[in-house]
Amino acid sequence: MQTSESKDIRVFAPATVANVACGYDVLGFAIDAPGDEVVVRFSDKPGLRITKITGDGGKLPKDAKSNTAGVAALDYLAHLGKLDVGIEMEIHKKMPFGSGLGSSAASSVAGVYAVNELLGRPLTKKQLLPFAMAGEVSADGAYHADNVGPSLLGGIVFIRDNHELDTAQLPVPKELYAAVVHPDIEILTKVARDILPTQIEVTKATQQCGNLGGLICGLIQEDFGLISRSIHDVIAEPYRQKLIPEFYNAKRAAIAQGALGFSISGAGPSVFALCEGEESAKRVGAAVADVFSQTGLTNQLYVSAINTTGAHVIA
Ligand code: HSE
Repeated sequence: MQTSESKDIRVFAPATVANVACGYDVLGFAIDAPGDEVVVRFSDKPGLRITKITGDGGKLPKDAKSNTAGVAALDYLAHLGKLDVGIEMEIHKKMPFGSGLGSSAASSVAGVYAVNELLGRPLTKKQLLPFAMAGEVSADGAYHADNVGPSLLGGIVFIRDNHELDTAQLPVPKELYAAVVHPDIEILTKVARDILPTQIEVTKATQQCGNLGGLICGLIQEDFGLISRSIHDVIAEPYRQKLIPEFYNAKRAAIAQGALGFSISGAGPSVFALCEGEESAKRVGAAVADVFSQTGLTNQLYVSAINTTGAHVIA
């Protein structure tokens, strides 16, 4: 019965910039592109089956239990007691792995969001967060919602506690734009996390708290000066920058072109700048891309307003 009535549901979940410099593991925002797509439909065969994966270079498993999008969807179906429902899933990867753009999070979000839509939306978007997290953890091994949060919910998401998934969406100033540049190298999140010290000095913790608070106040008050003064990372960037060729040259170029601030997107290698206005973001992005290109490092530039929609159904 379900098959004859079934039609495809196609979902897009966007890339994200985690950390936003001063919010290691607790802050992230979504951009318009790139992003992953998942298609789901009912099937007569009971259970969730991944029938097709594109754009992954053959790297991702089709076994739903071992696949990020599959794990998220299975966790959700188990919660609803609907593991027997026959569902086919296709995953279309549209962004590289190990990019610092939240690739696994986008797949995880798209997987659970698509299945929730297929079942008639029994849960709200925000209620999907724990299941998206389950998918993300299966890929990444670490428990941080700063990619899945904004990819699912859109906007700029602050996570007070990653285990409680106590999150808040922050206001997005209309003129706030991001320039994100992905140089064509891969950094495993695990490597970028292992490079960090397990303890930090109180003075550094104080600086980071000040900047995080400053950035949040700046967003609320639409105070671009305060936003700019706050985009500094004294915890992860000093260690991770060495994994990204030309990082400080790229940062200098971004600031010289008027960026409000510049840092590493998530675990890298992508870098991002926040800017006031689209023209500024285009100029800054081009300057950063040029730094990489001049050393022969191919790259992709994404200029975007903050994406306040997050995961959604597409035609
Ligand atoms: N907050 C995480 C990190 C994001 O910086 O390791 C990884 O995608």
